[in-house]
Amino acid sequence: MSPRTHVGIVGAGPAGLVLSQLLDRAGIESIVLEDRSREHVEKRVRAGVLEQGTVDLLEAIGVGERMRREGIVHHGLELRFRRRGHRVPLSELTGGRAITIYGQQEVVKDLIDARLAAGQVLLFDVDDVSVHDFDSDHPRIRFTHAGEPQEIGCDVIAGCDGFHGVCRPAIEKHLKVHNHEYPFAWLGILAQVPPSTDELIYANHDRGFALHSLRSPELSRLYIQCDPRDDISAWPDERIWEEMHIRFETDDGWTLNEGPLIEKGITPMRSFVVEPMQRGRLYLAGDAAHIVPATGAKGLNLALHDVRLLAEALTGWYRNGDTSLLDGYSAACLRRVWRVQHFSWWMTSMLHRIGAPDDFEAQLQYAQLEYVCSSVAAATTLAENYVGLEKV
Ligand code: APR
Ligand code: PHB
Repeated sequence: MSPRTHVGIVGAGPAGLVLSQLLDRAGIESIVLEDRSREHVEKRVRAGVLEQGTVDLLEAIGVGERMRREGIVHHGLELRFRRRGHRVPLSELTGGRAITIYGQQEVVKDLIDARLAAGQVLLFDVDDVSVHDFDSDHPRIRFTHAGEPQEIGCDVIAGCDGFHGVCRPAIEKHLKVHNHEYPFAWLGILAQVPPSTDELIYANHDRGFALHSLRSPELSRLYIQCDPRDDISAWPDERIWEEMHIRFETDDGWTLNEGPLIEKGITPMRSFVVEPMQRGRLYLAGDAAHIVPATGAKGLNLALHDVRLLAEALTGWYRNGDTSLLDGYSAACLRRVWRVQHFSWWMTSMLHRIGAPDDFEAQLQYAQLEYVCSSVAAATTLAENYVGLEKV
């Protein structure tokens, strides 16, 4: 007989780790299988904006202590265009809700520590993962660990293995796939330099989008729009900083601090959704099921919304034999997925340039930006989506 657990989780990113933590608190066993090393997943630089709901969830599941201590709470952001900055007062417009800047890799570190401290099974460096019999009541996961072929039986498989994982492909022929690729990418840098701003700056410039974010009082995180065909080798540090200075230029004397780059990379931009997010006893969550353009800072937050619904559904099933939330899992996730997809597409379309500075699309962008910066109603639309809608 293969060893068994209640829930087999593929992937130790935010989705898989939070799901395991939520299930454990409900008395439901799980095993997490991760194909990279612990060091790799803890060093993987990703986004860093936590919605209010995400902060509340991480605190509720007992992994919020360092986030509260080291995270930076922001109550506003700046939209910058035509050499002028306009502050959007996020908290003022949303009854006090805010965002917290705390790197995704920090969230992952806190979750891994919690899972291991709880004695939960979390295997790194797992190879050759494959999922089987999820159309039956006895799904199985096969994998190799420490050179040994293994198989585990479970009641349910959670596909939390991201966009490049194996779980979605296992059912993709049964799914409707929505894939919209944008004609630009993001070049991101992590720089050892104090941030030049207290709040995030989203800039729409004739030469393209730029974003000034941060990680700590000593670390800045910045992005510029680039051609998706660019190779990072074509972007020496000097060229990156030169472009950053141009795109953030203003008439009010603001200046950008430069510093040594710790990391730089180019990430393509797409909107991607599969429907449904489940088949039989296999449930997809997070990037395995959807990808949003990073402009709205939604990827991590949306992943955690999925697993919160999945954990609630599994708890109802294990405790009362009630399958209604499991049967409705995909529909419940997709309501928020499509709301967040639209917001991320809207922010992306408003801020990224693909044509000439004076063409039709640019004029529409300016009109939208001017409206958001002059109308409380329009600014509230951005603010309530950005900090995270309480109900969708
Ligand atoms: N077997 C085991 N693990 C796998 C496999 C596999 N075949 N394929 C991928 N993985 C692991 C990856 O190494 C990664 O650690 O699954 C994990 C998936 O994590 P994420 O890609 O971070 O996805 P998710 O947990 O849904 O979180 C979404 O992460 O990528 C960012 O921008 C995204 O912020 C969003 C968040
Ligand atoms: C980040 O800090 O990495 C970040 C912030 C806002 C975004 C995307 C990324 O929209």
